[in-house]
Amino acid sequence: MKICIVGAGYVGLVSAAVLAHWGHEIVCVDKDEAKINALLGGELPLYEEGLQELVEQNMKKERLVFTTDFTQALVNREVVILAVGTPSSEDGHPNLSYLWSALRTLKLQIKQDVTLIIKSTVPVGTCALISQFLNKDSNYDVEVISAPEFLRQGSAVYDFQYPDRLVIGYKTEKARVLIENLFQPLNCTKVFTDWDSSEMIKYASNAFLAMKISYINTIANLCDAVGGNIKDVAYSVGLDRRIGSAFLNSGVGFGGSCLPKDTRALVALGEANGVNVSILRDVLVVNYEQRLRIVNQLKESLGDLRGKNIAILGLAFKANTDDVREAPSITIISIINKLGGQVRVYDPIVNMENLQRNLSFYPATDHYETFDGADAAIILTDWEEFRSLDLERIRQLMNTPLIIDGRGIFEEKKLENQGFLIPQKISPEQDLISA
Ligand code: UGA
Repeated sequence: MKICIVGAGYVGLVSAAVLAHWGHEIVCVDKDEAKINALLGGELPLYEEGLQELVEQNMKKERLVFTTDFTQALVNREVVILAVGTPSSEDGHPNLSYLWSALRTLKLQIKQDVTLIIKSTVPVGTCALISQFLNKDSNYDVEVISAPEFLRQGSAVYDFQYPDRLVIGYKTEKARVLIENLFQPLNCTKVFTDWDSSEMIKYASNAFLAMKISYINTIANLCDAVGGNIKDVAYSVGLDRRIGSAFLNSGVGFGGSCLPKDTRALVALGEANGVNVSILRDVLVVNYEQRLRIVNQLKESLGDLRGKNIAILGLAFKANTDDVREAPSITIISIINKLGGQVRVYDPIVNMENLQRNLSFYPATDHYETFDGADAAIILTDWEEFRSLDLERIRQLMNTPLIIDGRGIFEEKKLENQGFLIPQKISPEQDLISA
């Protein structure tokens, strides 16, 4: 098929690369000139495993083209996929300005009937509004389909090709047939439903994942207070097939551009419609407090942080990505900065220069440099390479052998046996510090 993809962010780029790999002819358009120029020069604006190779191969085969020219991008395109960002606004509702700006341009440029697939995460009712808007006073028929995306950053190329399910909100048989053809290579359950349900499924899924994480973090905090090994608890709870073992890793909590944003969006939606969403509000509160707990553990163990050297291992909000949006590391470094601590940071791929504009830290070039002379170390990203660190070498390098493991990478017993100090547990009556 001849497809135009609007938006060269991580959803747009991954969709473009994989659909081209499946043999479709893709034009990917974005109004960000710097981004498109970089892509044309073979440089990707983000790190995603396997994406660079796929983009290069398909550009060579001329099945994947990048442009900033919307008019050109739409020529002879029977399918348009919208994959622009819908970040949080101040009030928690998603900001749909990029989406509507793209739709206004689209309306002006359409010269034939098209099928428009909405991959951006949008509130319930948006596809209906889009369809009304594009078909009103138009000579061309625009068939709108909702196809929310469930890609995880770090494994997006794999997830696009091997999803757990494909969710499609549609109106007509024609739309259903097009989707069956477009996603024919996928061997997964395909759920065909209405627009509103499809839009809600995306939010409900992300908020549920967020809830699982805040739930297990609450149980972890209870274990700290009264006893119990959270790893054994989470593992055994997860063996119940009704619960499932995924997303039960306790620690510093969730970050990224999706789980916090989509949970906030449901809270805002509930508040706007008089629905009690306190369960979701608590998910966000618990998540933020996990960050504060880490700083409190640090203070409990070291006392006054002024002049203390704190090693931070991992900036990215999770492993295998260079994304730091809403990452726990940002909050924690900024509080340590305020409390007068000196921060030294290591992350294998995050670009630190940009972050140094707002945060004060020394960027180390390898793990061991980070630990050298540190009074404490905090692990904030579950990078695989952290698992094979030489603990004996680290203990000798550190000023005080204290590791606060915000990602549950090391067994506490193992650290203790290797001569590390165990961070002070936070008792329930202790106030969490305010940021
Ligand atoms: C999330 C969803 O998992 C995807 O299905 C969805 O498509 C995507 O948002 C989106 O809406 O675009 P992502 O933000 O890439 O994907 O990250 P996750 O793998 O969900 O992890 C989110 C955060 O939760 C990370 O900070 C991770 O470290 C944390 N996490 C995850 C935990 O703290 N504990 C866990 O057990 C699992």
